[in-house]
Amino acid sequence: MKIAVIGTGYVGLVTGTCLAETGNEVICVDIDEAKVAKMQQGEVPIYEPHLDVLFERNIKANRLQFTTSLDEGLAHGNIIFLALPTPEDEDGSADLSYVLNVSQEIGKKIGSYKVIVDKSTVPVGTAEKVTAVIKENAKCDFDVVSNPEFLREGFAVDDFLKPERIIIGSSSDRATALMQKLYAPFVRSGNPVIVMDEKSAELTKYAANSFLATKITFMNEIANYCEKVGADVDKVRVGMGTDSRIGKRFLFPGIGYGGSCFPKDVKALQKAGKDQGYDFKILDSVITVNKKQKTIQIPKIVSHFNNNLIGKKIAIWGLAFKPETDDIREAPSIDVMNALLDKGVSLTVFDPEAMPNIEKQFGSKLTYATSMYHALEGADALIICTEWSIFRSPSFIKVKELLKEPVIFDGRNLYQLEEMETEGFTYISIGRKE
Ligand code: UGA
Repeated sequence: MKIAVIGTGYVGLVTGTCLAETGNEVICVDIDEAKVAKMQQGEVPIYEPHLDVLFERNIKANRLQFTTSLDEGLAHGNIIFLALPTPEDEDGSADLSYVLNVSQEIGKKIGSYKVIVDKSTVPVGTAEKVTAVIKENAKCDFDVVSNPEFLREGFAVDDFLKPERIIIGSSSDRATALMQKLYAPFVRSGNPVIVMDEKSAELTKYAANSFLATKITFMNEIANYCEKVGADVDKVRVGMGTDSRIGKRFLFPGIGYGGSCFPKDVKALQKAGKDQGYDFKILDSVITVNKKQKTIQIPKIVSHFNNNLIGKKIAIWGLAFKPETDDIREAPSIDVMNALLDKGVSLTVFDPEAMPNIEKQFGSKLTYATSMYHALEGADALIICTEWSIFRSPSFIKVKELLKEPVIFDGRNLYQLEEMETEGFTYISIGRKE
């Protein structure tokens, strides 16, 4: 099939590349000329495991092309994916201006039947708005479909190629049939393509992300309570997770969720609810608790150093909002670092992928280590903010040698308490005994 993907951010790029992988001819459109030029040279603009291999293969096979011309994209594609940003407005709602501006252009430019697919995370009622905007100018038939994505950064290619489910919000049989054909190669394993109305599809995405954010936040509160009563959240987690109604995943406590999706989507659903006179009390709490959770370690650090952090040197492992990404949007590490800088601490940081992004934001306020061990040299303590695999089994002998004192504040519960005791560390984690 002939596909155009408008917007080559994270979602658009993965969508375009993976659709090319199953034999479709894909053109990706973006207004960023420099980015398009780079992609035309075969350069992947984001860090995402496995994307580079698929990218190269499909460009070589001529199934994946890039352009800055919307006209070219629209002339090529029968199915037009909108993968445009929906940033957070000042009031927390999703800003639809990119989606609606492009929709207006589509209305003016299409000359034959197209299916316009909304892949961006958009509030309930957006498909209706997009339809209305296109209709203002369109001289031909078209359908608008809501097809939210459920990709996780770091696993996006795998999630796209082997989705647990595909959601199609559509009220047109013609568009639904096309979408089912397009996705058939991805659900051969028998995973469902679930067809529903557009509004329910739009809400499914917000509800899923908000539920997951709530699940994590609930566990973070249980962890905080474990500390008060001397229970071990790791044991509680395993005990709870074996109940199949609860499930083992997304129960890992830590220093809060971040990223470009959960924080934005929870706020957007909360705001959308308020706009309709519905008060999502649970989401208010999730937002408040998560904000606090990001700096939950700070009082512990302050108390460990007897209220005197001025002149202390602390190492940080992990800056990205989660492993396998260079994304630092809403990363807990940012809140941790800002709080410590305010208290006069000097910070030496290390992350396998996110250092350039952090450097852009923090500049000379931080020292950037060349390796995880380099970060520890002469530091008074180590803080772990992201659970990258390479931090999971370090040489504790080396860590002890390099740190001034063997003190670790672990925001992601990477190590066993018994192991740390044997190794002779002061080990302060989340929801477990010190
Ligand atoms: C999330 C969803 O998982 C995807 O399904 C969705 O498509 C995507 O948002 C989106 O809306 O585009 P992502 O933001 O890549 O994906 O990250 P996750 O792996 O879901 O992690 C989100 C945050 O939760 C991270 O900060 C992570 O550290 C935290 N988390 C996750 C925990 O603190 N504990 C857990 O047990 C799991």
